[in-house]
Amino acid sequence: MGSVRVMASTRLLCLFNTKAACSAKTLSRASRSVCFKRHVCSSPSRLQGCMSAWVIDQYGTNEVLRYTEDLTAPSVNAASEVMIKVHSASLNPLDVSMRGGYGAKLLRLRRDPMSVMDSDREFPLVLGRDVSGVVVDCGSEVTHFVPGDEVWAAVPPWKPGSLSEYVVLTEYEVSLKPKSLSHTEAASIPYVANTALSALVNAGGLCKDSASNKRVLITGGSGGIGTFSIQLLKAWGAHVTVTCSQNAEGLVRGLGADEVVDYTAEDATEQLETMEKFDVILDNVGGETEEWAMGLLKPWSGAKYVTLVSPLLLSTDSMGLLDGAFRAGFTLHNKAVQNIISSGVFYRWGFYTPDGPALDEISKLVDAGKILPVVEAQFPFTQVPQAFQKLEEGHARGKTVVRVAEEDDRQAEELVQNSPCGTAESEQGVQESAKHN
Ligand SMILES: NC(=O)c1ccc[n+]([C@@H]2O[C@H](COP(=O)([O-])OP(=O)(O)OC[C@H]3O[C@@H](n4cnc5c(N)ncnc54)[C@H](OP(=O)(O)O)[C@@H]3O)[C@@H](O)[C@H]2O)c1
Repeated sequence: MGSVRVMASTRLLCLFNTKAACSAKTLSRASRSVCFKRHVCSSPSRLQGCMSAWVIDQYGTNEVLRYTEDLTAPSVNAASEVMIKVHSASLNPLDVSMRGGYGAKLLRLRRDPMSVMDSDREFPLVLGRDVSGVVVDCGSEVTHFVPGDEVWAAVPPWKPGSLSEYVVLTEYEVSLKPKSLSHTEAASIPYVANTALSALVNAGGLCKDSASNKRVLITGGSGGIGTFSIQLLKAWGAHVTVTCSQNAEGLVRGLGADEVVDYTAEDATEQLETMEKFDVILDNVGGETEEWAMGLLKPWSGAKYVTLVSPLLLSTDSMGLLDGAFRAGFTLHNKAVQNIISSGVFYRWGFYTPDGPALDEISKLVDAGKILPVVEAQFPFTQVPQAFQKLEEGHARGKTVVRVAEEDDRQAEELVQNSPCGTAESEQGVQESAKHN
């Protein structure tokens, strides 16, 4: 059953792309005709209106998610800002954690230094880190975008999120959406792309010119970061080994993984130890992985272990900003020194970094067919709590997307169905996906 599902989802990637190539133009037409359709007037930066959004008014479980149509819409307040009408958003594990208060102290400080004194100022809080949508307004110094442009971006966790009708970001954080993807597909990529690029390039020292034939191990290869990173590294010519559950093997191999190790097998670590040593490990799992992963790296050759699971935000949450940051820094320093002295390998933490120009590069790889969106599940805007529940159940196989502008999507969908490109085969693929979701 598991392998059937994996095969279906791998096939779906291709079907989605066929369909998306046809739908991009129609989506574009459809979305341009519906700008400013609701509460925000045609000069949104000057007149604030209300918008619909999913918000939280306190931290907690799924019950704290609240739908509203009365949230004050954001507006362009700085010369470099871009206002985007959200068509699709996607969820990341961070959204579930932030709903429960993860990172609250540090993010609150970054969001609004005054809120450190008054924690209620951070609510209502909008979650959702990815956006694919259409530019509706630009600040006076914005040079790369004009209203009507289809864009994608990862919304930094300290800014109001994308589970809302509109978001405002700086020009630097935004990028033109790949033409070959629908908004639903595009929304699955920005946050994992910015995170993976930051981890692999800034911390891992890899880039498209240096990654060729480098041996990279990705732990947790079947999730959002993993499925993206496999494809990026393969596009750069690296040799990619992945750890994942056995039932995800078909998916990760379909995305290009050269070698796959089932981490649930009793001899998983032994299997990895018998392999040629690695230049870079991207750890998406954390915990005990650190204990055995260091020995898999090439000693004294600049090899790097980069984990995305750092204790920084947990430390600041539990110990306060200063003590927590100091403790996290101390931990990082100790581990880095210990690993370089004992094993001759670099120990690093990777973090999401907003970066529109990096998304421009990813856009080219997507339009060249080298990176496919891996959308495991999609939900309408009315079912955001169900989307959170899906994510909380774990065992992700790619990304969970929320279609925010449902009417726009339906309109675009109808146009696709009426066009010669809306083939029975691609429809069947979509239906298959829905069944599996
Ligand atoms: N530092 C940052 O800025 C940053 C940014 C983004 C993400 N992250 C973190 O990076 C991690 C990965 O993010 P993501 O978006 O890829 O998460 P995800 O979509 O939830 O994927 C996690 C994947 O790991 C698999 N998995 C679980 N345990 C495993 C193990 N022991 N070995 C191998 N695979 C395992 C899961 O499937 P099965 O359980 O079925 O095996 C799932 O496919 C998360 O912890 C996230 O919080 C950090």
